[in-house]
Amino acid sequence: MNAAQIAEKAEGLGPWFQNLDLCGVRTAPSHFLGDYPADKFSRFSHLVPADLTGKTVLDIGCNAGFYSFEMRRRGAARVLGIDTDARYLAQARFAAEVLDVDGVEFRQMGVYDVAALGERFDLVVFMGVLYHLRHPLLALDLIREHVAGDLMLFQTLTRGPDSAAIPAEDYDFSEDVHFQQPDWPRMAFIEHKWAHDWTNWWVPNRAGVEAMLRASGFAVEAGPADEVYLCRTAPVPFANYGPHVVYPARPEEPAR
Ligand SMILES: C[S@@+](CC[C@H](N)C(=O)[O-])C[C@H]1O[C@@H](n2cnc3c(N)ncnc32)[C@H](O)[C@@H]1O
Repeated sequence: MNAAQIAEKAEGLGPWFQNLDLCGVRTAPSHFLGDYPADKFSRFSHLVPADLTGKTVLDIGCNAGFYSFEMRRRGAARVLGIDTDARYLAQARFAAEVLDVDGVEFRQMGVYDVAALGERFDLVVFMGVLYHLRHPLLALDLIREHVAGDLMLFQTLTRGPDSAAIPAEDYDFSEDVHFQQPDWPRMAFIEHKWAHDWTNWWVPNRAGVEAMLRASGFAVEAGPADEVYLCRTAPVPFANYGPHVVYPARPEEPAR
């Protein structure tokens, strides 16, 4: 395919969110965040293991495949990118074809359905999706319960102070002072739109993000760097007290 053909096909698949370089054809050259996500990746790429040889990767909310392609470039044996949006997946498949990338598969699937994959991955990439979800903690719980095998590369947009209050083990019923602190773990609920986008539902602060990660069984190994964390699976708090996921998707127990 020559540059003119790539440009024509890319335009037909647009608009693009990710500015990929398809053999010199830029897919989103006017992105409001600049050369996105390449610029962003350059600010946190040191968090990702440089050598992923033989590893499996699940890229949730893969969009046009930028991070899927990057993980494959680092040696991952297999990358599965999932997204709810068929148009983005068509972009990703086209990009894989133009860039001649093998070992990367794209499938239409939402984060709440990951149990159906029936497989754990060495690295889960969960970038830029959390704040688009009406049920963000449920998504983290499901990822932890069904697909996270070891590491998770995670990003959400945040607003608020850079400091993060460390919550105590318990508080009195009358407690109020801590709840007023700006760096108390919190998320702002967006009823209408944020950044002109009705698919943004929650804007957490840094403390809120880190508390949610801990609460769903992820320990922060590195970061944040530009809002990105490298996490590792850890014990799920209170897991012994019952199903921590609201909608458990475990197979039925066989009848006795
Ligand atoms: C802001 S983009 C982030 C794309 C990419 N991960 C990145 O960081 O550049 C959000 C992506 O999440 C996808 N998405 C939204 N809701 C989803 C869901 N419930 N399950 C899976 N993907 C979802 C959107 O279609 C979109 O591709």
